[in-house]
Amino acid sequence: MKRKIYVTRKIPASIYDQLVQHLDVKMWEEEDIPVPREVLLKEIKDVDGLFCTITETIDEKMISHAENLKIISNMAVGFNHIDVKFANKKGIVVTNTPGVLTETTADLTFALLMATARRVVEASNYLRNGEWKSWSPMQLIGKDIYGATIGIIGMGRIGQALARRAKGFGMKILYYNRSRKLEIEKELGAEYCDLDTLLETSDYVSILIPYSPGVKYLIGNKELQRMKKTAILINTARGGIIDEQALYNALKNKEIWAAGLDVFEKEPIDLDSPLLTLPNVVTLPHIGSASEATRIKMAEITADNLIQFLEGGDPLTPVII
Ligand code: DGY
Repeated sequence: MKRKIYVTRKIPASIYDQLVQHLDVKMWEEEDIPVPREVLLKEIKDVDGLFCTITETIDEKMISHAENLKIISNMAVGFNHIDVKFANKKGIVVTNTPGVLTETTADLTFALLMATARRVVEASNYLRNGEWKSWSPMQLIGKDIYGATIGIIGMGRIGQALARRAKGFGMKILYYNRSRKLEIEKELGAEYCDLDTLLETSDYVSILIPYSPGVKYLIGNKELQRMKKTAILINTARGGIIDEQALYNALKNKEIWAAGLDVFEKEPIDLDSPLLTLPNVVTLPHIGSASEATRIKMAEITADNLIQFLEGGDPLTPVII
């Protein structure tokens, strides 16, 4: 008999077809609306496996509702929305999708950095709003990337991929990480430093650490005050790493120059958030890994983990905490 799984979001047809060859699959069919929590609390009750994404909170209560669950297969590399410790305690394996989204997320991070530095969104709106009356020497001037210093907080896979891009653009690279990465220092001339030094000396600060309660508001008022008044802050990791109220104040009071944000503490961000009123912020709806090829690869690994594990094999990419 096939094992039962629940898929919380509509996934590419090819991946769905692959899943149904091996497993008894039920899927939430709405394209753009996540499965409501009350529905998932019922659906999780008797399934053997769960295919989920970052839009579902798989906390202790949710896991406790599951009577047969053996695997939570997460279509994301980040797993802060899942209580992995509690799942493991219940004997449930959690998997994620490391590796496949590295380059795509680094691309988006660099795109956001460039868009923020050169005011791309603001300039496009300026033209469309009919404000472009003539070329003018100091119109929409931004910041240079070539020759500037980038400080990367988190030198994991995506941090390293970003550092390679920065090197290609002639940037000086600083980084702050739990441990030193000597091979990256050698390859790219990156310099390891403490967080305060990174904040004080970087023209661009890019956050690329995984979220855990220990890094909540790692960047708050005190840290923003340390940054250069000309600096740009880029966040493509998780929103909760920045204190958004402190960021708003710093941007409004011109204590830093600009920010590029792909992630927010609450997603979707409320449209009345004061951050959205500022011209010096570029905001994106959490699209770091959103390329066609990468999203398909992420869905494939998520499906492969379920199939392999529920058919008696080892999970391909288990989360180890
Ligand atoms: C992740 O994988 O953690 C991203 O935030 C979503 O792709």
